[in-house]
Amino acid sequence: MAYSEKVMDHFANPRNVGEMPDANGIGEVGNSKCGDIMKMYIKVEDDIIKDVSFKTFGCGAAIATSSMATELVKGRSVKDALKLTNKAVMEALDGLPPVKVHCSILAEQAIKAALSDYYTRQGINPEPIVGKITEAPECAYEN
Ligand code: FES
Repeated sequence: MAYSEKVMDHFANPRNVGEMPDANGIGEVGNSKCGDIMKMYIKVEDDIIKDVSFKTFGCGAAIATSSMATELVKGRSVKDALKLTNKAVMEALDGLPPVKVHCSILAEQAIKAALSDYYTRQGINPEPIVGKITEAPECAYEN
């Protein structure tokens, strides 16, 4: 399966790239097998994700899924962002080849890690709300 036009677009022109110095939630996740790392930054004000950005060291699908994940949570409430699934990211990108599904899981986890950090900074235990942040279950990374 080839990459969709949307994947290619988000890979070639990723949205919301870069660090955010005034973020109030930062999450980093990595997949130990493929070595890809995603870092997400969120700025929450009045329970709304006013700004979001990312830095991804990884494959093209990891960059495209990070980019789409930021677009899907931008301007949404924290509660809505918590519902983001890797499936929603994949659907928004018109699908991913099976060997790249784990890249979308990494994007979901990166958003959740940033939300966890946001709750922690508010003095709230994130685990009952966000759940455990896990690494992508497997990586079918191919050279
Ligand atoms: Fe894309 Fe592992 S995150 S190859």
